[in-house]
This record gives sequence, structure tokens and C-alpha cells, in this order.
Amino acid sequence: NAAAAGAIAVVVANNVPGKLSGVTLGAAGLIPTGGVSQADGTALFGLAGQQVTVDLRFHQEDRVSRNVIAQTRTGRKDNVVFGGAHLDSVPAGAGINDNGTGSAGLLEAALQLGGSPKVNNAVRFGWWGAEELNLLGSTAYVRSLTFEQQLDIALYLNFDMIGSPNAGYFVYDGDNSDGEGAGAGPYGSAQIEKSFVDYLTVEKRIPVEGTDFTGRSDYGEFIRQGIPAGGLFTGAEVLKTPAQVAKWGGTAGVAYDPNYHGVGDNLGNVDRKALDRNSDALAWVTASYAVSTED
Ligand code: PHE
Ligand code: ZN
Ligand code: ZN
Ligand code: ZN
Repeated sequence: NAAAAGAIAVVVANNVPGKLSGVTLGAAGLIPTGGVSQADGTALFGLAGQQVTVDLRFHQEDRVSRNVIAQTRTGRKDNVVFGGAHLDSVPAGAGINDNGTGSAGLLEAALQLGGSPKVNNAVRFGWWGAEELNLLGSTAYVRSLTFEQQLDIALYLNFDMIGSPNAGYFVYDGDNSDGEGAGAGPYGSAQIEKSFVDYLTVEKRIPVEGTDFTGRSDYGEFIRQGIPAGGLFTGAEVLKTPAQVAKWGGTAGVAYDPNYHGVGDNLGNVDRKALDRNSDALAWVTASYAVSTED
């Protein structure tokens, strides 16, 4: 109703339904009278001979999100090898490739490793909440650490979308030598990139390409705090090229994940071969850094 509409920050739509003027009722000094609610969530007001549409659809609420953190009992606690993947998805779909794949690959590595593996460095796992809401979980976690606790993290490995149905094989470009060149900045790690590249090319015989640290996943706050990072990615909305089809198979001119952030991101739309290869790479690289982070 008009009173309730005036009490919250609502937007006057300049007489054009669906077009927002950005003028709030309060700022405009308008007092709506009457008001007919419409099926699309807007409300119609008769105002000084004009018809004004007020958009009441913006509704905010507070929700709690959680990260799940686990660490081995064994290994140095001041040289931690950290793997992370986000657990949440967008509301549109189930989020199986984005990011059930990364979460499941990481979970399998954790289960295989167990709680007390014979490692020199402790291994910590992070399953992040609210990545899709601007990396909220991982960012809050890294910022919650003291400087000393941040120094105790040797490196961070990120796994977000590792089974795209039209998969590319991308390794975060730690040395800025490939990808589009926006780049790793100072903290992408060439050493971590090499670990993934070597494993995938030598053990899996699959050629790989670099992908830039664009800030679009949970490594963001780690590299901002100076923690070396790397990881794997099979691609999202970008279209696969004919050259990539020649080396990887799949379909040219189609997105690596045509269901990216859509309803079709379900169990039927995962490249299980890509997921298997990348999960093996995840486990191998994590375990080798747990043995040693030396070159
Ligand atoms: N973080 C993106 C998402 O969850 C996916 C993505 C990962 C995009 C890495 C680019 C690079 O939707
Ligand atoms: Zn996503
Ligand atoms: Zn994601
Ligand atoms: Zn590179």
C-alpha cells in the first residue's frame, strides 16, 4: 500500500513501466496516493493526474552462509597447503559443474588423504559459501586470519568448474605467459602453474592452456594478501575455438559450459572424463605440495 511503499526506498518509474528513473519517492518529495498492486510486483499510483509505477520488487534479507574448513592433524602448521572450492550455486540451477565438480574433487582428495597422512606440510581444505555473491565466504575467511596466520599458508589451490561439458583444460596462468594477458599480478605462482601443467601433459597426455587470474573466483582474497595461488578451470561462457577442438575435442563455436549459471547445469551436463583428469591433477598436486613446497 502507499504508506508501506513510502516507508521503504522505492523507485519511481517515470510513467514507463519497467524503466527505472532512479528517483526515490522520498527524494522526489512524492507522496503516492492510492495504489493498485500488479501481477509483476509493481504498484500503480494515480498522482497529480499522472500514472506512476512504483517498483516494490526489490527485497533484501539477511542470510547466514558458512564455510567448511578441515585440516590434517599431521604436517607443519606453519607451511599449510590449502585447497578450496565453492559449495554454493546460483539460484537458476543445481550448480553441478559450477561448482559440484570442484567441491566433489576436493572432497575425494580429502577422503583419500585421511586425517593423519604422512605429510610434511599440513593440508587444509576450504569449501566456501556465497562465492556467487561476490566471493563472500572465502574473502571473509582470509580477512578473519591474523597476518601470522596468513603467513602460515604456503599456497592456495582453487577448483571452480572442472568438468565443463565442452571442456577446455585451463591452468591459472601464474607466470603471465599465456591467456589474454590481464595477468597474474605479483602473486600468481609460476611454480604452481608448472605443477599442474606437468601433471596434465605428462601423466594425462592432455595439452593445456593458461587462464588469467581475473578475480572471478575464490583465489581473489588469497592473492590480494600475497598468498601464492593456482588452480584448474574447464571454462564457462566463452566459446571453444576450432584450434581447441583440434586438441581437446568437443564443439567449436559453443561455450565450454553452455549451461553456465543456467537451469541445465545438472548431473547430465558434466564431462566426466575432464572431471576425472582434473580430480587426479588436484589430488596429485595437493599431495606433492604436502610432501614438499620446495622447487
Ligand atoms: N567464479 C565463476 C563462477 O562461479 C566461474 C569462473 C571461474 C569464471 C574462473 C572465470 C574463471 O561463476
Ligand atoms: Zn558461478
Ligand atoms: Zn563457480
Ligand atoms: Zn603461464
